Amino acid sequence: MKALEWTGDSLKILDQTKLPIEISYRNATTYKEVAEAIEKMEVRGAPAIGAAAAYGYALGALGYPGDREGLQAYMDGVQDRLSETRPTAVNLFWALRRMEDRLRELHETTDLNEIRQRLLQEAENIAEDDRRVNRLIGDTGNAIVPDEANILTHCNAGALATVEFGTALGVIRAAHQGGKKIHVYADETRPFLQGARLTAFELMNDSIPVTLIADNMAGFLMQQGKIDLVIVGADRIAANGDTANKIGTYSLAVLAQAHGIPFYIAAPTSTIDLKVAGGQEIPIEERNPNELREVFGIQTAPADVPVYNPAFDVTPAKLITGIITEKGIVSSPYSVNLLKIMVRS
Ligand code: MRU
Repeated sequence: MKALEWTGDSLKILDQTKLPIEISYRNATTYKEVAEAIEKMEVRGAPAIGAAAAYGYALGALGYPGDREGLQAYMDGVQDRLSETRPTAVNLFWALRRMEDRLRELHETTDLNEIRQRLLQEAENIAEDDRRVNRLIGDTGNAIVPDEANILTHCNAGALATVEFGTALGVIRAAHQGGKKIHVYADETRPFLQGARLTAFELMNDSIPVTLIADNMAGFLMQQGKIDLVIVGADRIAANGDTANKIGTYSLAVLAQAHGIPFYIAAPTSTIDLKVAGGQEIPIEERNPNELREVFGIQTAPADVPVYNPAFDVTPAKLITGIITEKGIVSSPYSVNLLKIMVRS
């Protein structure tokens, strides 16, 4: 099942808010629709958000009604709208910058149709890169997965969060495909339930053994010796290795350290943001309070109770055993080693 797919004239987006009950799609034909789908989390997960935004940018150019002269100003508006959808995952800004750079390179091209086709091609390249990179992350990460490992994961860093294959679930998928008898514990991941709704669904579809647990059960499982390894994805990795990921990740990292369990991040290098020195500088999205007052429209708390609903937290680098990327596994000292991997081609 694909999170997103270019149809030739629209972006077909799997509506992940409806999973696993209903499999339905939105066919976005305008950049505004793509922005709405990202905002509503119909498409979510850092790499998928980046690829969707790139196609959104291309749709902006395809739908541009004016002449060559006004194109740049119009596309700046398109970029602004797509940029304001979600603040934490850096892949969104990374992909939009790639699209912006491509447009600027074409400043001498006067043929609007040629520009449109080149921008669409760049969005296709971003999607294709993500497919390739995730397979590499899977192959690289497979090396640290022991046979018969019980792996804990949080949120969904799978095929549904990327263009294909996944990052944390890409490692798990590669280990499973390589014949290792692994088993996954999936945190349900309150409040949006990406673990229950998406990870459990995705792994079951691939016949990878999975057991669902509530978020507050992870410590007890570790204490019982039921977890060998934690692997999660990332939304933004700072230059010093501090990593933003779905809220609850930090608690898992603390628990893993207390129990001597390896804690790995799996992410493409496009998630590394060297412009951000440390985790305290990463913008953390706060979402609608009703996500905590209700469970999918059913009230579960006093209607007007004050709510704090940060969607991400930051795991300090010192709690991370290694960061699995398409260029290899990065370990401490992160300030030195992340820089090295970013300059390596
Ligand atoms: O709010 P979401 O569902 O977009 O959050 C997703 C995560 O936190 C993922 O772990 C992260 O984006 C990595 S996806 C490969």
